[in-house]
Amino acid sequence: MCGIVGYIGKKEAFPIIIKGLKWLEYRGYDSAGVALLNGSLEVYKKKGKVIDLEEFASEKNNGGSLGIGHTRWATHGEPNDENAHPHVSMEGMFTLVHNGIIENYAELKEDLIKHGYRFNSETDTEVLANLVEYFYKQSSEINSETAVQLALSKVVGAYGIAVLCSEEKDKMVVARKGSPLVVGLGNKEYFVASDAAPIAEFTSQVVYLNDEDIAVITRNSFTLKNVQNTPVSLKISNLDLEIGELDKGEYEHFMLKEIYEQPKTIEETFRGRLRHDQSEIVLGGLINIFPKIEKAERIIIIGCGTSWHAALIGEYMLEEYAQIPVEVEYASEFRYRKPVLGENDVVILISQSGETADTLAALELAKSKGATVLGICNVVGSTLARETDAGVYTHAGIEIGVASTKAFTAQVTVLTMFALKMAKARKKIDTEEYQMLVKELSEIPEKGRLILENNENIKTIAEKYKDAINALYLGRGYLFPVALEGALKLKEISYIHAEGYAAGEMKHGPIALVDDNLPVVVVAPKDDYYEKIVSNIQEVKARKGNVIAIVTEGDVVLKEMANDIIEIPDSHPAVAPLLSVIPLQMLAYHIALMRGCNVDQPRNLAKSVTVE
Ligand code: F6R
Repeated sequence: MCGIVGYIGKKEAFPIIIKGLKWLEYRGYDSAGVALLNGSLEVYKKKGKVIDLEEFASEKNNGGSLGIGHTRWATHGEPNDENAHPHVSMEGMFTLVHNGIIENYAELKEDLIKHGYRFNSETDTEVLANLVEYFYKQSSEINSETAVQLALSKVVGAYGIAVLCSEEKDKMVVARKGSPLVVGLGNKEYFVASDAAPIAEFTSQVVYLNDEDIAVITRNSFTLKNVQNTPVSLKISNLDLEIGELDKGEYEHFMLKEIYEQPKTIEETFRGRLRHDQSEIVLGGLINIFPKIEKAERIIIIGCGTSWHAALIGEYMLEEYAQIPVEVEYASEFRYRKPVLGENDVVILISQSGETADTLAALELAKSKGATVLGICNVVGSTLARETDAGVYTHAGIEIGVASTKAFTAQVTVLTMFALKMAKARKKIDTEEYQMLVKELSEIPEKGRLILENNENIKTIAEKYKDAINALYLGRGYLFPVALEGALKLKEISYIHAEGYAAGEMKHGPIALVDDNLPVVVVAPKDDYYEKIVSNIQEVKARKGNVIAIVTEGDVVLKEMANDIIEIPDSHPAVAPLLSVIPLQMLAYHIALMRGCNVDQPRNLAKSVTVE
């Protein structure tokens, strides 16, 4: 949440910062701001999107080759111009952008008020700017990095910050604890950002800051120390990231583009891993550690939101095929419970961003208990990718739409490969079944393309249900998590209240909701539960509910029974989630669009949830 960009070098900073903020806008889009230090300090900030800031500041004095910028997801104080970052300290010596939460800000603020400080905003960030200034003014011996270090030593909470000091005009200080920051190293120039996307076009040499690192950057030098003032050695990483342009191409929205990319991204996910001869599945990131993983006594899969739904599918697959006990946990619950786990457990953390605060806290907890921790993650070089013992990248490419689509199908693809690999290693699956499932998985992209051709039909269905107030999503077995995911997609982008349920649970409560106003989306392709889900549909129909059924091509029974059907190609039940989720994503997209919602940037949400 919140995106930070900084530049110091010889180029014009303003366009680099604005472009970088556009890359990071998925992290927050309440307001945006930029500060440029070029002789004088110029700060421009605006409620609204980065484009509003760009328009506003384009007319102004925006020259200079040192600057910081921010796109905000509000925590303290409503989104308005005053609360937008950067924040300037009372005497104008320090300007700061911040991602995270200063938990003890009230206490620090009270102390600063006693020392005569006044505040213009309701933010915790302005407190930090003033605290840095306060320390800076204590002695002429104290430079800006020491002032930052002293201030951070008083802070409880999470931060990624970039700081400019008006009295030290060739320097930027950046620091992190809990909120990601990466520094790109150029030729006498440095790029700072919350993730690597804004940096990738300029350099492939990066340094990922670790918790409590403070980087002091001038045009000619880059040094690291920590909050305890101890020097830290530099670890330069090679950034292997192909990002292309921040471009929707022929599509109206990033979400639609990402839905349509799925046949390709699923292929990318299994490229080089799923062998055409259907022999060994190769997960390079796990090779060294696999002998240990395959002997695990239990697997715990942890994630949030959509990633948690992917985890549920992983549980079903691993238990069915590898016959290993699996538990699935919400990261936000796991981290505060007293979970029983130890050395023989394998914990898999799933996260698109690799920066979700709760998932990272769960990772630390699992590590502290001695479990083997693995990551399934999309963002290369993210904290999750760096902190786990080993892992698998999903290779879905950058996901910009706040509602996750292609990352989900990539996560499920990785979990499917992992489950099959485990099943084979543990000798729980015979060769014939294994090869059949590998083949089924490899056919998903082609079948996915066929579903996308159904767009007009899905649009027509969306038109019928766009004014619904509530919606129910039902599924069984592998398709229960798909129902949950379909409901999440609808609620987050269209603001229609939607609930996902295991279809068998319907009679235990949710059936009370059914009347002739309720759309009930039933994920019902042919599988072992087909007869049962047909009965569930009968029960809904008997109460005049409107059934939209996702069915296997050629299903005549449900064609008669349901109000609307969306056909998907026949596939094995274990890989059916990868297909059946696509029409649900499209349905949510069209309904949201018809309701006039901002599909790519839904209200109140941000993509990378780096605060609790
Ligand atoms: C829903 C969505 C969120 C994320 C969740 C976890 O469309 O995007 O529910 O899935 O915030 O994010 P990651 O996977 O980055 O940890």
